[in-house]
Amino acid sequence: MTTTQPGADQSVSDAVTAGSHATESARSGLSNLRGPGSGEVDQQRVATVVGAALEGIRSAIREHEVTYEEFDAFKRWLIAVSDTGEWPLFLDVYLEHEVEKVAAKRQQGSVGTILGPFWLDEQARLDTPATLPMRDDEPGTPMILAGQVTSTDGTPLAGATVDIWHTDDEGWYSGFAAKPPAGNLRGVVRCDDQGRFEIHTRKPAPYTIPLDGPTGQMTQAAGWSPWRPAHIHLLVAAPGHRTLTSQLFFTGDPYLGNDVASADKPELTLDPQPTGNGDEIRADRDFVLERET
Ligand code: DHB
Ligand code: FE
Repeated sequence: MTTTQPGADQSVSDAVTAGSHATESARSGLSNLRGPGSGEVDQQRVATVVGAALEGIRSAIREHEVTYEEFDAFKRWLIAVSDTGEWPLFLDVYLEHEVEKVAAKRQQGSVGTILGPFWLDEQARLDTPATLPMRDDEPGTPMILAGQVTSTDGTPLAGATVDIWHTDDEGWYSGFAAKPPAGNLRGVVRCDDQGRFEIHTRKPAPYTIPLDGPTGQMTQAAGWSPWRPAHIHLLVAAPGHRTLTSQLFFTGDPYLGNDVASADKPELTLDPQPTGNGDEIRADRDFVLERET
């Protein structure tokens, strides 16, 4: 598995490549996904939430007697997060899981988890059974992910779509790392009239956050693991239903339970089995969506 620099033809660091693309994606794409929001700012809400966040930092300074040297290093680190475009990476690794848990308290249907910084809009639209766009010699274990999308009352959801994206066998995301071509191992699969889908792909590999950027450097400076267990990202959508944002993990992955993004959940683990067709494996997973209110 590769965790260092991609090809020598790449002149900027992993962190700057992934970070600037993630910043651009966050700027342009996410309002399509999550809706525009009300745009309203409630003064009391700002005072409460921002006040609590600032007080958390002030109390860390008091309790641990933070020095000017450390304060200045913190300033430089924040500037570096901006310069490398790593805000989406940093926020999605260290904070999104808490926001997701707050949202999940009010949700029915299949368990979800964080979106992360690497979703891209406007990927290949495919009909089930579908093979994700991949290179002729795409490395890794051939894998089938199959299942059915239903409503919370059990109705199969014709017109459901499964937007899927994941790393290649070396832990790289297309669109963010230099190596995989645009659109590699990404697609939006349209289910059949029973909400069923069958997606042919490659098993993804565990992933480290970029180690040469400020998020990775801070992680390593603290002695924390920079790894995410191998995972498949999904947005499962159907007309009239809330879109499910989820990820699927793999039994036996060494990084399960120690995910730098704290996004793995026991309900989200797959246990793929050999199909008998070469080294191909298959996992079945159904999704239940709640009706939009
Ligand atoms: C990051 C990477 C991921 O693959 C993910 O799902 C969440 C966060 C990151 O590098 O920030
Ligand atoms: Fe990811």
